[in-house]
Amino acid sequence: MRPGDLLSRKQAGLPIAILTAWDALSAAMVEEAGADAVLVGDSLAMVVLGHPTTLPVTLEEMLHHCRAVGRGLRRPPAHQPLLICDLPFLSYQCGPDQAMAAAGRVLKDSPAAAVKLEGAEPETLAVMDRLVRHGIPVMGHLGLTPQAVHQLGYRQQANDPASQEQLKRRARQLQEVGCFALVLEHVPSDLATELSRQLLLPVIGIGAGDGCDGQVRVTADLLGLTHRQPPFSPPLIDGRGLSVEALRGWVAGLNASPAAPPTPDTSPAAPAAPHC
Ligand code: KIV
Repeated sequence: MRPGDLLSRKQAGLPIAILTAWDALSAAMVEEAGADAVLVGDSLAMVVLGHPTTLPVTLEEMLHHCRAVGRGLRRPPAHQPLLICDLPFLSYQCGPDQAMAAAGRVLKDSPAAAVKLEGAEPETLAVMDRLVRHGIPVMGHLGLTPQAVHQLGYRQQANDPASQEQLKRRARQLQEVGCFALVLEHVPSDLATELSRQLLLPVIGIGAGDGCDGQVRVTADLLGLTHRQPPFSPPLIDGRGLSVEALRGWVAGLNASPAAPPTPDTSPAAPAAPHC
């Protein structure tokens, strides 16, 4: 799958399914499930690295996880889902040269074919424009942007007419700079549906209702592996509960039939090995 194939799916009226992955194991499952694209999202900072927000994850860590995800994909390259990697906080906000270098490293040093950036500030738009002009496919992300958690919290965004107009303007700007798709997170569903209809680029929702061109989910949330899931992303199964129950059974089984204690060795002692 290439970035342009997502647009073809939108034009054909076919839904787009995107799931996150963070290692080879999760990547293989997501590919087998038939996802069109795999996102190595910076949510992995919270989901698998145990950080309280997405802010601490570094570019090196994202590259490390992205390579593992790439190794987990098993189909022939032409049939693999599109691999997208989030640019982490501070890898693209400190000037266009640094942003270009960070995005370039993702494409050079990992199997990802596209990057995702949050927001549409003038500086971010300038960075996106440069990346796109240099052949780096860019996905946008508006609405609840977790890298701005200290400003926005995890609340639903674009709730009043002024902020809805601002979001629509920003979404159009992302299309104009050449983003191949746009993630809309935790915004009113009417707004997301309207934008999906108006924009040419595919709109991928999470907590944005059913009217989007596609949906993206954090796989660990869907599988119920995380301690808590956002209200707009309820788990499909209690993966954590099932896993703990299975592991508890294994531990209990060992405790129920402990191995026989070792018998004392009565053979003559071997000479001690010399210390080097
Ligand atoms: O980091 C992530 O997993 C994301 C998705 C929630 C879209 O950005």
